[in-house]
Amino acid sequence: MIEKIKEKFKAVYKNFPELIVRAPGRINLIGEHTDYQEGFVLPGAIERYVYLSGSFSKDNKIEIFSDTINEKFSCSLKDLSKKRGNFWYSYVLGVIHYLNLPKRGLNIFISGNLPQGKGLSSSAALEIGTAFLMKHLFGFEKDALEIIKVARKAENEFVGVPCGIMDQFASMKGKKDNLLFIDTRSLSYSYYPFPEKSSLIIIDSGVKRKLGEVGYKERRRECEIAVKTLKKFYPAIKSLRDIPSEKEEWEDFLPHTLRKRVEHVVSENLRVKETCEALERGDLDRVGKLMVKSHESLRENYEVTSPELDRLVELSLEMEGVYGARMTGAGFGGSIIILCKKGEEDKVISHITSNYSTPSGEPPFYLVTSLVNGAERVG
Ligand code: GLA
Repeated sequence: MIEKIKEKFKAVYKNFPELIVRAPGRINLIGEHTDYQEGFVLPGAIERYVYLSGSFSKDNKIEIFSDTINEKFSCSLKDLSKKRGNFWYSYVLGVIHYLNLPKRGLNIFISGNLPQGKGLSSSAALEIGTAFLMKHLFGFEKDALEIIKVARKAENEFVGVPCGIMDQFASMKGKKDNLLFIDTRSLSYSYYPFPEKSSLIIIDSGVKRKLGEVGYKERRRECEIAVKTLKKFYPAIKSLRDIPSEKEEWEDFLPHTLRKRVEHVVSENLRVKETCEALERGDLDRVGKLMVKSHESLRENYEVTSPELDRLVELSLEMEGVYGARMTGAGFGGSIIILCKKGEEDKVISHITSNYSTPSGEPPFYLVTSLVNGAERVG
């Protein structure tokens, strides 16, 4: 992989890269649609990466070549901040912009094996990879949290996608064979060993989550309105994180739809905590049940699943050896994850691939993954 990247870089830029980094994608075991309301999440970084290689150039330009789409982008350093928007290169430019680096020409090469549009956070991996590449190229001192925040800011403000902080956090701070618990209010985090004797399977529905961006914004907005409304009765609350878990305490203050949204966020935060406890006890049946409950809540209350995701979860639960399954990421398409007994992966995958085909008629993409370290220098 590394040798190939060096050769390809040379073919594009006529010299070898100064260094190569990689940043992984992520799954989220549980804690969905909670990170923009200061809640809890439990993601893990997966064995699929965006690789970024780079070197300084003598021109006053930033050049970015994407091996994935075989396209080159080039802009002068002074035009960098004008390239805002949701384009593949803006994820890279946004990070460079907010890092406030000395103005130097750059050659950047992007490649990797992390598929896009499957809800596995290829954008966060690209942002974190960019920040990490710059850190090593320019040799600046920024700790992990600052890098995570810059990456998220780039996505929120430069690209214009209002994501939470989970994906960038996981791509940066993932740890081999561990899940990463994040309190998205305090930004404190801790690790939970991924249970031995079990496996994680990712199955993609084949429905691109692109369309979900409207839905994602709408959900965020609904949560904000709910907080504003509930503040009249509970002035101390800052986010849905602070809502009492007893439904009777708040349900009468909200219209039907908002009540459902709040119910999801409040119950999902409790499920994350309970999942951590169950992991500590090694109680995988309970972890699996909580994953299924999370999916149900995302389907019934938060309304971000899709018939394809629901079908995939249903098929998974038909199999013995499956502890639980749920959609992962923002929803509206993308992937599900399955937690199953080690050794049962082939049977589960074959059951699903023979009973489900993507809307385009192809068998779904799947991956059995272990959990890996976050961004690292590899060359
Ligand atoms: C996307 C966002 C995350 C998070 C999830 C839903 O992946 O980027 O910040 O909100 O959706 O849990």
